[in-house]
Parts: sequence; structure tokens; C-alpha cells
Amino acid sequence: MPKTPDYFKGKTIVITGAGSGIGLATAKIFGREGANVLCADVNEQAANQAARAVDEAGGTGAAVFADVTQRADIKKMIGAAIEKFGQVHFLFNSAGSAIRRAKFLEIDDELWDKTYDLNVKGTFYGMQEVIPHMLEKGFGVIVNVASTAAKGGGPAKSPHYASSKGAVNTLTMGAAREFADQGIRILSVSPAIVDTAFQDINEEGMFDAAVANVPSKRAGRADEIGELVQFLCSDACEFMVADTVMVTGGGGYR
Ligand SMILES: NC(=O)c1ccc[n+]([C@@H]2O[C@H](COP(=O)([O-])OP(=O)(O)OC[C@H]3O[C@@H](n4cnc5c(N)ncnc54)[C@H](O)[C@@H]3O)[C@@H](O)[C@H]2O)c1
Repeated sequence: MPKTPDYFKGKTIVITGAGSGIGLATAKIFGREGANVLCADVNEQAANQAARAVDEAGGTGAAVFADVTQRADIKKMIGAAIEKFGQVHFLFNSAGSAIRRAKFLEIDDELWDKTYDLNVKGTFYGMQEVIPHMLEKGFGVIVNVASTAAKGGGPAKSPHYASSKGAVNTLTMGAAREFADQGIRILSVSPAIVDTAFQDINEEGMFDAAVANVPSKRAGRADEIGELVQFLCSDACEFMVADTVMVTGGGGYR
């Protein structure tokens, strides 16, 4: 929770991948607190639905098509938020996927490139396009999404994805430390298994096996990650900079 009541009221967040899962849950949570939420997604219909859900939750939603692998789309997305709401206070880079499961020797160039374009370039573009605006305003918080996979390496199911999330963590640290004394905080969150459409690519039994490995014996919920994102964006603990926050149900990942 923020230290200041109504902290998010009238402030603006841009969320990529807002059409589903963690992005959608976060959009609704910011809506609940009266924020302006620009919902961006490559699935335009889902982005529109997310914007309506923000309105229903009590905020002001708007939607934009954006493929985070395309710099021009990200430029337009940030421009649209500034035009509509005047300022971007927060960016949540949630769009991401493992694309498909693969053992190490099964990763081909296409899977590698798609994974890195989505998870790494998408995050890089978002940060690079919004930071000049945040510098101008002297304020901004960016939250990226990594994964516990970055620690475990994703053996025999997603080393391409795990390593791309490692890159997200490293990029987060580098940018965060460069701008930390200029009013900008950049962090990442590292969830273990969360029950969203992300899991649709799993082979049979993979989800249950992963959950069985979690000490809490359940998957995380998208809204639990969304509440954390809101805490990180708030004024509750502004000394949090650059690091990733693990959300694991107790660990058990590998
Ligand atoms: N669910 C998990 O277990 C889990 C665990 C750790 C990290 N993550 C990360 O959390 C983030 C959110 O995942 P989720 O679980 O909400 O998945 P999700 O599949 O429910 O949502 C992902 C959203 O991203 C959008 N998207 C995909 N490609 C896009 C692109 N090129 N441009 C814009 N939008 C695009 C999709 O349309 C979808 O709406 C991802 O970065 C994922 O890697 C998820």
C-alpha cells in the first residue's frame, strides 16, 4: 500500500501485455486506486477489454495496439499516453512469453530470436522510449518482469526463456543504477509459476509438476503480482531500486 492516501489517483501507468494475466490484473488494481491506465497489447481486442475493466474498477482506461518487438509501436504507445493523460508516471513491461517449450538442443534460431525480441528487446524499447520523458519530469518508476527461471536456467523446458529473463534482470540493474539519482526507480519482479495463459504452452503434466515443487503447494495468482507491482510503484519504500523481487511461494523452482 502507498504511504500517501490516494497516491495513484490521477497518476498514469502504461502496461504492456495488459490484455491477459499479470498485465490485466495489474491494470485492474491500478484502476481500483483511481489511476489512468494505458493498456497496450498485440491483441487489440484484449487491450480494449482491459481498458473497460479499468473503468469498471474505478480508474480511467485507454487502449492501444502495441507489438513490443517494434520500436515504432512503443514510441507511439508512450506518445499516446502523454497525449491522453499528460504524463507517464509508471511503466509496467509485462508482455512476455516462453513462446514454446524446448530442450537446449531443440532451440533453433527462430525460437531464440522470437524469445529475445519479445522479452529483452520489448523491455529495452519500453525503457528507452519512456526514460527521456521521465527525466524531463524528474519522476518515474519502471517495473519489468523477469522470472525465477532466470535463476534456475529452465533446464530441459525453456533455457531460451530463462536466459532472456536473466538479460531482463541485468538490463534492469544497469538502467536503474544509471538513473537512480535522477528521480527514476527501475525494478523487476521474478515470479515463479503463476496461473495464467502463459502456461498454455506447457506439455501435459508440466504445470502440476511445477506446482508440486512449490512449498506453498499452489501456483501464484496474477493479482498477487499486480499488488506487488503497485507497492513497488508507490511511495512506500523508495529505497528499493534495481533489484528483482522474488515471488515464489517458498522456492522450489529449478
Ligand atoms: N505466468 C507465469 O508463470 C510467469 C512466471 C514468471 C514470469 N512471467 C512473466 O510474466 C509476464 C506476463 O505473463 P502472463 O503470465 O501474464 O502471461 P499471459 O500470456 O497471460 O499474458 C501475456 C500478454 O502479453 C501479450 N503479448 C504477447 N506478445 C506481445 C507483444 N509482442 N507485444 C505486446 N503484447 C504481447 C499477450 O497478448 C498477452 O495479453 C511475462 O513477461 C512472463 O514471461 C510469467
